Amino acid sequence: MTLRELQQEIIRLKKEKDICILAHSYVAHEILEIADFTGDSYALSVKAKDAPQKTVIMVGVRFMAETVKILSPEKKVILANAGAGCAMADQMDKQVIEIIKRQYPDYKVVAYINTTAELKTICDVCVTSSSAVKIVKQMPEKNILFIPDCNLGDYVAKQLPEKNIKLLQGGCPVHASVNAEEVVEAKKLHPNALVLVHPECTPDVVKLADYVGSTSGIMDFARKSDAKEFIIGTEISIAEHLQYECPDKMFYYMSPKLICKNMKLSTLGDVYNAILGRAGEEIVLDDETITAARRCIDEMIRLGG
Ligand code: 13P
Ligand code: SF4
Repeated sequence: MTLRELQQEIIRLKKEKDICILAHSYVAHEILEIADFTGDSYALSVKAKDAPQKTVIMVGVRFMAETVKILSPEKKVILANAGAGCAMADQMDKQVIEIIKRQYPDYKVVAYINTTAELKTICDVCVTSSSAVKIVKQMPEKNILFIPDCNLGDYVAKQLPEKNIKLLQGGCPVHASVNAEEVVEAKKLHPNALVLVHPECTPDVVKLADYVGSTSGIMDFARKSDAKEFIIGTEISIAEHLQYECPDKMFYYMSPKLICKNMKLSTLGDVYNAILGRAGEEIVLDDETITAARRCIDEMIRLGG
């Protein structure tokens, strides 16, 4: 079967079986082409909630599929590739945060959505990279314990000096792998390019950016900008998708290290096999976890909407 034939077969099967396919912007172009919705973590979680289909296939990483299940427990939610975890989400567990919470009883716990469903059960509100500043700003509390990404947390703290934000040591090893020297080198090579950066990058990289935002934010900025060249400081797939979409502009990787191997795991073949029930993993969460984790995701949608 050619790639096109495989895509057509997936489109036929998803209609026949009433399946909604959600794909994060970091996955391959040929998957984005057959998805019902694509976007950043925030957009996907909201879309999943409203999708009329009874089955959802998530092409992304585990915490994204868990978020869909928490918001739509009545739906069958399948993670297209069972091995696709998130290095950041796996860093902090519930037991450790319970201990830290006891040390900071007057702090509200804000969890980046890149956390496990289990950890979300003891947090107060979730945020995504596109909604973090807006949500923390609207919270009436001043004292915030921000987990797990200290880089995103630092970015939020700098935008909101009126808040007292406590950070823990955690984050995305992919985004944190880029350093300021690499950005300076990239700028020397491409002096006319704007630097667009995801807030999971380190503060010294963020400081050199012309724009800081989520994956969708970066894509929207580049599409609408009058500039013709861009250095992309997030997973390399974003530079590739933008190059397809905007052939009159030039997109450069900030660093070849910006590859998330988890996001690269899912293939079009996985999506096809997941539709046929031959691959992927159905997300199963107990009712107690769903109810407790849902509080902070609902709060995210209420404050971020
Ligand atoms: P977005 O919220 O920008 O989609 O980011 C998710 C993610 O995992 C980035 O590494
Ligand atoms: Fe997780 Fe980082 Fe990969 Fe995003 S890029 S899914 S935060 S490991």
